[in-house]
Amino acid sequence: MIKVLVTGGKGQLAQCIQSISNDYPSLDFVFLGSNDLDISNINEVENYFSENNFDYCINCAAYTAVDKAEEEQELAKKVNVTGAKNLAITCKNKDVVLIHISTDFVFDGEAKTPYREDDSTNPISVYGQTKRDGELEISSNLSQHFIIRTSWLYSEFAGNFVKTMLRLSKEREELSVVDDQTGCPTYAKDLAEIILKIIDSQSKQFGIYHYSNQGEITWYNFAKEIFKQSQSEIKLHKTDSKTFKTLATRPKYSVLNTSKIHSLLNLEPVKWEKSLEKCLKEITFE
Ligand SMILES: NC(=O)c1ccc[n+]([C@@H]2O[C@H](COP(=O)([O-])OP(=O)(O)OC[C@H]3O[C@@H](n4cnc5c(N)ncnc54)[C@H](OP(=O)(O)O)[C@@H]3O)[C@@H](O)[C@H]2O)c1
Repeated sequence: MIKVLVTGGKGQLAQCIQSISNDYPSLDFVFLGSNDLDISNINEVENYFSENNFDYCINCAAYTAVDKAEEEQELAKKVNVTGAKNLAITCKNKDVVLIHISTDFVFDGEAKTPYREDDSTNPISVYGQTKRDGELEISSNLSQHFIIRTSWLYSEFAGNFVKTMLRLSKEREELSVVDDQTGCPTYAKDLAEIILKIIDSQSKQFGIYHYSNQGEITWYNFAKEIFKQSQSEIKLHKTDSKTFKTLATRPKYSVLNTSKIHSLLNLEPVKWEKSLEKCLKEITFE
């Protein structure tokens, strides 16, 4: 059996991993929430790893409140930078492969074509900066790592854009969504599959990888498709980032080039519309 620790075990991505874990009988999982293991506390991390043996650690733990991070810089840093460093050092000492999740927000959004893994990073928000610094802590402390940058995660679990749109479509008659940020949504269950396939393949081709679903759209067009597929009657309007102000600045364009991970795993990219369809079938509302 391959022993796998999942940190941040109660978050969206970790719940997606848990939901498909039975499809991987050769993997033996332990999921730890933030109350069980605080990755920002080196003593806790070292003690836990000294008492338990793993082959892989999937780090799903992160400070993910993009706007709040502008006001809680120290806390975001503690989790996304110190936490990542703690795991990297401990994984090195215990010969564990670390699979860490990062974000399209490490880029400034000035590109016109999909970002490749070796393009220069230049985060424009506190969240993006802390995620970029976390990547650096991992790559400088541990060679056995996969850093997977992903974008616009959604699923049937936890809070996310798709679930918010579906809720608002029941509460409101009209809605405005920004049309000046382009990216690619990613069904977190598809990402979960990719992560478990990397482990299953026992690949030693460590490094940074990009993964998202296939295509590029704005948040407005994503909302439009969510309402189309869910047959909602809500009236949708376009707005822009100047009108819909947020604390954190977001990249204008953050589409990821995913060809490296698809060739590593020999998989075909999945179109975002198809994945949305799969996810909507899983979402149930009380
Ligand atoms: N969501 C997106 O759109 C998106 C896009 C690109 C990349 N990502 C990256 O994808 C990864 C997974 O995101 P997600 O959507 O699953 O996030 P999520 O639902 O917010 O889950 C993050 C989890 O981390 C836990 N956590 C926070 N501080 C911790 C600590 N000090 N020690 C241990 N656990 C801690 C949280 O637990 P508590 O709730 O108990 O604090 C939460 O359950 C993250 O690395 C994120 O940066 C996300």
